[in-house]
Amino acid sequence: MDLEHALIEVVGARHVLSDAELRAPYERDYTGRYRGQARLVIRPGDTAEVAEVVAACAAHDAAIVPQGGNTGLVGASVPRNHEVVISLRRLSEIGEVDSAVGQVAVGAGSTLAGLQDAARAAHLDAGLDFGARDSCTVGGVVACDAGGARALRHGTARAHVAGLEAVLADGSVISRLSGLTKDNAGYDLPALLVGSEGTLGIITRVRWRLVPAARSRVAVLVGLATASEAAELLATLRAQAPSLESCDFFLDDGLALVLEHQRRESPVRTRTPVYVLAECAAQSDPTDELAAALEAAGVEDALVADDTTSREGLWKLREGHTDAINAAGTPHKLDVGIPLDQLDRFLDAVPDVVRRAGGQRTILFGHLGDGNVHVNVLGAAPEDERIDDAVLELTLDSGGTISAEHGVGVEKARWLERARGTAEVAAMRALKDALDPDHLLNPGAVLPEEIRSASTSEG
Ligand code: FAD
Ligand code: MLT
Ligand code: ZN
Repeated sequence: MDLEHALIEVVGARHVLSDAELRAPYERDYTGRYRGQARLVIRPGDTAEVAEVVAACAAHDAAIVPQGGNTGLVGASVPRNHEVVISLRRLSEIGEVDSAVGQVAVGAGSTLAGLQDAARAAHLDAGLDFGARDSCTVGGVVACDAGGARALRHGTARAHVAGLEAVLADGSVISRLSGLTKDNAGYDLPALLVGSEGTLGIITRVRWRLVPAARSRVAVLVGLATASEAAELLATLRAQAPSLESCDFFLDDGLALVLEHQRRESPVRTRTPVYVLAECAAQSDPTDELAAALEAAGVEDALVADDTTSREGLWKLREGHTDAINAAGTPHKLDVGIPLDQLDRFLDAVPDVVRRAGGQRTILFGHLGDGNVHVNVLGAAPEDERIDDAVLELTLDSGGTISAEHGVGVEKARWLERARGTAEVAAMRALKDALDPDHLLNPGAVLPEEIRSASTSEG
């Protein structure tokens, strides 16, 4: 039997998409920089079906790209070379919150917003948040070890994974969903899958560790002259406002682009080169604590938002960068981590470095508290890798990391060895070879490899 018919037997004809129009949304990434053609798009409905689909693909030597919400920004969620796309979105079941241990088991296809709602209903919080919350899936979040603004206080996705279930490349299922706080029997396979970007297994269910819900929140937007002033403000906030949950930044040209895109008047009276958006979250009103910290930092003028609508209004300025940039062109997006004492120098240097590499416009923003800079470049052809190389070179020269929270994907795979060194990459390859000897899972993502020649003889 050919692959397509084998897969129809597993998931039913409705969930095997071979028609070009039906496949299209699964074949193009969020930015438009990455696109390809899938052999088929398969939409299994539960773990058993995922396992059978993977086994059938393995039997037909068909490479696989796992996909959640397709909001990934490093090109690894879309096919490159006629792979079978396995969409996990139908695995969207959200279990009962176990309040005693503060955990919930959710299907890999449930959205981050769905997880957040379930947590909120139980007076708890997911502890992770970012702009793609309504579309990105928990499986994708864990596969990328996503971060977002609240990682400053609660850590990245990794900190929330109390266990998971996954299908390996041969179709076998591993399941660690008991959620026991202490359970160190054997290797920590779930930890290995966190951040593996679909290259070691397909995550089907996650046991998510929740955090206490804050009863009160207050956000503040502060305009500053330089990035080093921003880093100083961060240091004071950390020391004097224990309720600090996030501390992001953006620059004035980014603000102008967002305001234009959102057709909105500037809420900022005095425009400055740098803006810091910080949020405190606590059981009781953190306004006084935040005000005292701002005073200690010498901040005289700040926009304070202490109700949900005005807080969301401020965050729209920061989170709106992604869509405003996308609307202006097809960006090169380099998500990097920079030591805070190098941040000023890096932000100063990067626009020139980009210009010399052929990019026209650089927009910088990110999660200041984590030294996480999003370098966005417009005006270069999608396939022009000189921009990526120049930014990543500067990043490593600054003592930083080539990937802070978006993942390595296909965008940065060829840089992994430079960043991690030969010994680490050899160990990674050994793990890949052990768990996926035929390199069927997301080939070319994370670890560079020769693109497999597409098997087009059937299916
Ligand atoms: P996809 O895009 O579908 O896939 C991403 C990767 O995970 C691919 O390699 C894919 O193969 C793999 N994958 C997906 N599902 C599974 C699975 N079940 N099992 C195994 N592998 C799988 N990221 C941040 O970290 N912080 C942010 O602040 C942030 N903000 C964003 C804002 C916007 C507007 C957008 C568009 C994206 C943002 N992202 C951010 C990037 C992206 O949303 C995250 O990386 C997210 O975790 C991807 O989830 P997804 O379900 O869309 O995964
Ligand atoms: C963000 O922080 O807004 C995201 O990581 C998305 C992006 O970099 O565009
Ligand atoms: Zn981010």
